Amino acid sequence: MESKIILVRDEFTAELEKAENSADLEAIRVKYLGKKGPVTELMKGMKDLTPDEKKAFGQKVNDLKSELTEKLTEKTKFLKEQEILKEIESMPEFDISMPAALGEGSYHPVTLVQRECERIFKTMGFAVEDYSEIVTDYECFEALNIPKHHPARDMQDTYYLENGQLLKSHTSAAQNAIYKKYKDALINDGVPIKAIFPGRCFRNEATDACHENTFFQMEGVMVDKDISISNLIYFMKTMLSEVFRKDLKVRLRPGFFPFVEPGFELDISCLICGGEGCPSCKHSGWLELCPCGMIHPEVLKAGGIDPDEYTGFAFGLGLTRLVMMKYGIKDIRDLNSGSLKTLTQFIDE
Ligand code: DAH
Repeated sequence: MESKIILVRDEFTAELEKAENSADLEAIRVKYLGKKGPVTELMKGMKDLTPDEKKAFGQKVNDLKSELTEKLTEKTKFLKEQEILKEIESMPEFDISMPAALGEGSYHPVTLVQRECERIFKTMGFAVEDYSEIVTDYECFEALNIPKHHPARDMQDTYYLENGQLLKSHTSAAQNAIYKKYKDALINDGVPIKAIFPGRCFRNEATDACHENTFFQMEGVMVDKDISISNLIYFMKTMLSEVFRKDLKVRLRPGFFPFVEPGFELDISCLICGGEGCPSCKHSGWLELCPCGMIHPEVLKAGGIDPDEYTGFAFGLGLTRLVMMKYGIKDIRDLNSGSLKTLTQFIDE
């Protein structure tokens, strides 16, 4: 019987050597380790042995079984690796230094302007925050002093998910999370909150040259002790003059937004006529650019900040609108068109 073990092992090894694929391996497994295979036969043959012989021989058969199983696993692994190598070899060779057939890629104009704004705000000490496109009703409205059924919600109809969350209709939706994230540093260590958060926004909107259901805004907030409207005007004027590379004049007009008090519409002197009055600015000399205001006490409270101690300003720059003004793009839909002919014309200055 001992010699039978040796024979089985030798035959198995010889066959395994010749196996070329997983089908061969499976056939060998069934032949040697299957119900009718020699290993099972050896087990069955033990019934005529004495208990002591059974114990010793049983151990040997078990060892044989483990050895064959192990060798099969090893060979399976080996063949798999060979298959992968063969596949790699059969791949077409390519030269990584070859110039691309399509020419160089380029950035979307919104990306270019967004990066430019981020760069400018970073130099003024603002953190750049990334925030989710899917938000809760609380973040988008309630925490911004826009309770259920408030008429301000009409302007911001958006897309709702089945679980009650929604696609954010404005970047202001990130304000609450930003206050909560930085409030401890503000309160305990006196570090002012200075952050911008650019992002994609969505609205249930009939599209035309000036309206899109998907567009970009860039929100900014600054909260500290004694922040005033002068701080707001200074930051906006500096940032916009840098973006347009012109020394712009800005002016504030009253505007209503539930999350700021007082709220403003910020205008810049017309880029075309410099304020003289022309058809682009409807002869007023001004272009409406950025709503803003002093953060409403209720909004600060919702963010865990005491409005009796701290004040702040917020602004919601229409990034898409800014891009259109900067590059003279007349139809907002061009920006979402995916047309390479249109979108590859813009260069990083
Ligand atoms: N979130 C407003 C909107 O999309 C814009 C806005 C207005 C943002 C005033 C602000 C602000 O931060 O102070 O209509």
